[in-house]
Amino acid sequence: MRFAGRMSLAVIVALAFAAPASAKQTVKIGAALSMTGPAAAYGANQKVGIQAAVEEINKSGALKDVVLEAVIEDDASTKEQGIAVFQRFINKDRVAAIIGPTLSNTAYATNPLAQQAKVPVVAVSNTAPKGITDIGDYIWRVSLTEGQVIPGALKTLQGKLGFKKAGVLYGNDDAFTQAGYTVMKSALADLKIEVVAEQTFAKPDRDYNAQLTSLLALKPDILVVSALIENASGIVAQARQLGWTGPIFGGNGFNNPVLIKNAGPAAEGVYVGTAWNRSSTDEANTKFLASMKARGVDPDQFATQAYVGVLVVAEAIKQAGNKGGRDDIKAGFAKVMSLSTPLGKFSFLPNRDGDHTPAVQVVKDGKFQILQ
Ligand code: ALA
Repeated sequence: MRFAGRMSLAVIVALAFAAPASAKQTVKIGAALSMTGPAAAYGANQKVGIQAAVEEINKSGALKDVVLEAVIEDDASTKEQGIAVFQRFINKDRVAAIIGPTLSNTAYATNPLAQQAKVPVVAVSNTAPKGITDIGDYIWRVSLTEGQVIPGALKTLQGKLGFKKAGVLYGNDDAFTQAGYTVMKSALADLKIEVVAEQTFAKPDRDYNAQLTSLLALKPDILVVSALIENASGIVAQARQLGWTGPIFGGNGFNNPVLIKNAGPAAEGVYVGTAWNRSSTDEANTKFLASMKARGVDPDQFATQAYVGVLVVAEAIKQAGNKGGRDDIKAGFAKVMSLSTPLGKFSFLPNRDGDHTPAVQVVKDGKFQILQ
């Protein structure tokens, strides 16, 4: 008895000393990002946003004994690679939540795997309105859809620029560019803007002269384009080469500095609906901008949304009582309410899509500037 009593004391003493170290719980967040392929320009910035948020949250101690770890993998902008990455996250890395994939086109193929395995997913750049969060109750979204951004952006622009006729160009081999086109078409109809003609292209295309020439011959007042970034820069540059000096309106795919880098001065006068108001003087945005500056990074909307994706996962963990299991995080998402983020006050809608205020930006003097 005396021996057992001494052992217990020893165990208690050992536990008392061991407790702080052993109580740390690492929660892995898998991020499936397009680091290669046509969406690589988005993935590079998303990676920066995720790494910054993870570092800041861990440093702040906001999650007490929970330590976040980001596991970042390349989805290569394809469904096949996206599926392979999701399988690895779900079964091998045993992540608690997944951020991504970058493209809606990939998300349609990957997210059913996570839903089936009951692994929560936060979309941070998928903007096709339908069929993403509809996949199931484990799928949540930070990124505003084209439907949440484009109609308001076109209305604001029409109020400023007064256009009456639009030429429409869209990618017809990608879920996001097709969905964006559908939203644009209905928004233009609601605003009673005549569509002079519609033209299409595919992701591998690099020459849009035939489509643009035929659109411009019909004398539109504005070009409305639904494209991913690589096509977007080429379309803008070639439209200007053909003499088009009028406004060009792009969907969410245009929200990336590669547009300005690749199209150069041709990008001046490109308008884009955006989820991120970079000029916001809210404290959360000011802090975010300062943190990015300290890292030598000039963030874009994709970096910001990815950063917010991590903030939302962290808030879910907090709401679940600092527990980081898959179902804890899923349950925590439902309690994220008016979270202060660089995107503004963020909440989820009942259908698990995100909710906050969008903005419109224009390329002016070689940079994106928020339209006031
Ligand atoms: N917003 C783009 C998509 O949903 C990147 O695919």
